[in-house]
This record gives sequence, C-alpha cells and structure tokens, in this order.
Amino acid sequence: MLEARTIEIVKSTVPLLESANTALTEHFYQRMFRDNPELKDVFNLSHQQTGRQPAALFAAVLAYAKNIDNPAVLSAAVERIAHKHTGFSIQPAQYAIVGHHLLETIKELAPDAATPEVIDAWAQAYGALADIFIGREEQIYTDNETRTGGWRGPRTFVVQEKQTESEHITSFLLAPADGGPVVDFRPGQYLNLHLTSDKLEHKEYRQYSLCQAPNGKNYRIAVKREQGGVGSNFLHDHLQPGDSIQVLPPSGDFFMEVTPDTPVVLISAGVGLTPMRAMLDQLQRLHHQAPVHWLHACENGSQHAFKQDIQSRRQADDNLNTHTWYRTPQACDQPAEDYDATGLMDLTRVRDAISLPGAHYYFCGPVPFMAMVKDTLAGWGITEEQLHYEVFGPHQSL
Ligand SMILES: Cc1cc2nc3c(=O)[nH]c(=O)nc-3n(C[C@H](O)[C@H](O)[C@H](O)COP(=O)(O)OP(=O)(O)OC[C@H]3O[C@@H](n4cnc5c(N)ncnc54)[C@H](O)[C@@H]3O)c2cc1C
Ligand code: HEM
Repeated sequence: MLEARTIEIVKSTVPLLESANTALTEHFYQRMFRDNPELKDVFNLSHQQTGRQPAALFAAVLAYAKNIDNPAVLSAAVERIAHKHTGFSIQPAQYAIVGHHLLETIKELAPDAATPEVIDAWAQAYGALADIFIGREEQIYTDNETRTGGWRGPRTFVVQEKQTESEHITSFLLAPADGGPVVDFRPGQYLNLHLTSDKLEHKEYRQYSLCQAPNGKNYRIAVKREQGGVGSNFLHDHLQPGDSIQVLPPSGDFFMEVTPDTPVVLISAGVGLTPMRAMLDQLQRLHHQAPVHWLHACENGSQHAFKQDIQSRRQADDNLNTHTWYRTPQACDQPAEDYDATGLMDLTRVRDAISLPGAHYYFCGPVPFMAMVKDTLAGWGITEEQLHYEVFGPHQSL
C-alpha cells in the first residue's frame, strides 16, 4: 500500500512526464541496452527503431502516474502487459534492472526536479507496480504449466505442415516434439515463438495469433512476410516441415467470450484475419446458435488468405454470413464469387445485417483500419463493452 505522500509526489510529476513524452522512454531503452546488452535478446529491436515500444511504455508509465490512486482503471492494461510479458519469458529479477534504468533516466533527464524525495516516491511506486506484474505473471506461468498439455518456458515443437495461404501469408502447423498434448487456448490468443538461429543476429520472440480452434494436439499459425521483417522472413525462408522451433505457451487478453445466443461479428483486414479464423472455427465446432458475420478486407484475390476455407465454411453453414472487400481487384478476380465490394471496407454497406442487439464485435488489422471500425460502430451506438480488438505489435489505444 503506497502512502498518501508518495502518491501525491508521483502525481505531481505528471506535467514533467508529459513534457518529456517519449524522449523519456527512448532514453530509458538506450541506457538499458547500453548497460544490459543481454536484453537485446529479449526485446524486439524493430519495435525500438520504429518507436512503437517506447510509445507503448510511455503511455503505460503516464497512465500509472495519473491513476496511481485509482488502480482499478489500470487493471485491463496490467492484464494485457502481463500476458505480453509472459510471452517473452520475463522473470522477476529483471524488474530490478528496469526499475534501476527508469530511476536513472528521471535523474538524467530532469536533474533539477529529481530530488531525493521524488526519486524515493518513484522507487516505491515502481516497486508496487512491479510486484503486481510479478504476481500476475507467476499466476499465468503456473496456470499454463499445470493445465492438461501445459508447460512453462520454451518447449520444442516440430513443423508438421507449411502451407501457402496467399501471396504473402504462409501457415505453419506445429506439434510438440515430445508427442504430448498441448494446452487449450481461448480463440483470439496468440502463440509465442522463440527464434534462435545463426541466421539471426539476436534471439527473437515473436507473437502469432492461433488461427484454428484448440484441439489438444497441435497449433496452427499464419505468418505474413513483412518487408524487412526479421522474424517473418526467417520463418518463410528457413523454417521447413520437420524443423524444430521453440514455443512458449499461448497467451493474450484478446479472446472471444460469448454465450450461444450472442451474435458475433468478426472483422479483419489482411493478416488480421488469423485470430478471427480461430474464433470462427470454434463457433462452428460448437454449432453457435446466434448469427455469425465474417467481414474481411484485403488487397485482391492473390492476397486473400483462407479464401477457399471461408467459402466452404459459408456453404456448409447457413448461420454464417460473409462479406469481402478487395481494394484493387485483379482482372481474374470474380465479383460475387471471390469478393462482394471494391475499395476499402465500408461498414455502412452491411449496417442492417450486423447491427444486432447484444452482438459482440471482434476486429483486427492495421491500426487506422481498426480506428475506422471502432469509430463507425461506436457512432451507431454500440457500447465499448461490445468492442474487442487486437494490435499486432506494441499496444496502441484506438
Ligand atoms: C498479439 C499479436 C498477434 C500477432 N499475430 C500475428 C499473426 O497472426 N500473423 C502475423 O503475420 N503477424 C502477427 N503478429 C505480428 C508478428 O508478431 C510480427 O510482429 C510480424 O511477423 C513482424 O515481425 P518481423 O520480425 O518480420 O518484423 P520486425 O523485424 O519486427 O519488423 C517489423 C516492421 O518494422 C520495420 N522496421 C524495422 N526496423 C525499422 C526501422 N529502423 N525503421 C522503419 N521500419 C523498421 C520492418 O521493416 C517491418 O516491416 C502479431 C503480433 C502480436 C503482438
Ligand atoms: C513496471 C514495469 C514495466 C512496465 C510498466 C512495462 C510496460 C510494458 C508495456 C506497456 C509493454 C507493451 C505491451 C503491449 O504491447 O501490449 C511492454 C512490453 C514488453 N516489456 Fe515491459 N514493462 C515493465 C517491466 C518489464 C520488465 C522487467 C521487462 C524485462 C526486461 C520487460 C520487457 C518487456 C518486453 C520484452 C516487452 C515486449 C516488447 C516488444 O514487443 O517489443 N518489461 N512492457
């Protein structure tokens, strides 16, 4: 329990944090990687270079300082970050390293404001937050380890199948090398790969949404080749059927939680369809009673992953409605058969069909796409509680 004076001091530093903005977290990461270069094998350095991780950390630190007297506001963020951390195998001892560099950063960037009282208040506040993370992360590790088919840390999996799903997306079916079962996940959650190879400068952790419903035996992920991307190009170019790969248990706070009478609308763009496919698979396996809508946007037929799969599912299931947008169809793409509309996704086209009382909306794709989806649905009066989204990278609020 933090003392009132500590809370007051931390809150008084909010204007200082706001004026420093992401310079704070950029400085923090620079000094941490300088003094603890072993952490380059933990963090995704591309997210450092693009600034996405410093921005995500800054948003979290600022939110903590602002809401330190009202921790309930932070619980969703804590849950999301704890899940992300467990996918990177973060350990309690590493919190001291991060805490040290955070306090040194405050001293270095604001030497006048960083009085001993301010540093002491931040040390206590950081310690309290670190304890919350450490506790929640241990719960997630233990839960993953003790459930049927569960494990802790890396486990060796073998690539059973490697399948081209579109021009840029390839799926991988992964099964444990020990032949044992695998722990169930909640559709929407992701798998964490730990990539180690002499072809990579650093060890790399990458997250991939599971794209088929849990079956206790194996996991399927689908990976888009990103231009200049370290992990996705490694997986596309070097990971072949029969090869081994280190896998950490599934995690993630984005998952489908509905009753049989809940209408479900799954909305995706590009490779953002992967968590939606796991949800659809699950809904169909459970013979979901309420209507299910699948809305997808992609560039054209050559980039339309799982096209046949979704078409077959629709043909076999009267309860499933689909609508597809191609931004720039090719001459060989067949309207009505391959796609329903041209251009970017326009939800007003399907407003009547998807405006269903009590429906839940799950969406994933590039951040501007998801912002459009959220704004449109919120504009129709759909509540925050009905909207669920996943960011394929360091978190950003929409
Ligand atoms: C919860 C979650 C679920 C995900 N699910 C999926 C999924 O199902 N399928 C999928 O394909 N992906 C998914 N991702 C994304 C995936 O984890 C990887 O981020 C993605 O594959 C790219 O990784 P990479 O190593 O190829 O690229 P990285 O090396 O991480 O690079 C990312 C991008 O940054 C660019 N970049 C790197 N350095 C710089 C620089 N200095 N300046 C400018 N740009 C730079 C790269 O060119 C690249 O385009 C998910 C991510 C999360 C967090
Ligand atoms: C109280 C302390 C901490 C806070 C507030 C914090 C905050 C965050 C946030 C906001 C994210 C992004 C989450 C998301 O994308 O959803 C994140 C990711 C991450 N954190 Fe932490 N973190 C803390 C401690 C640590 C520690 C001790 C480590 C271990 C060295 C660590 C390593 C990571 C890694 C590796 C990622 C993923 C980075 C990436 O995707 O590039 N964090 N953290």
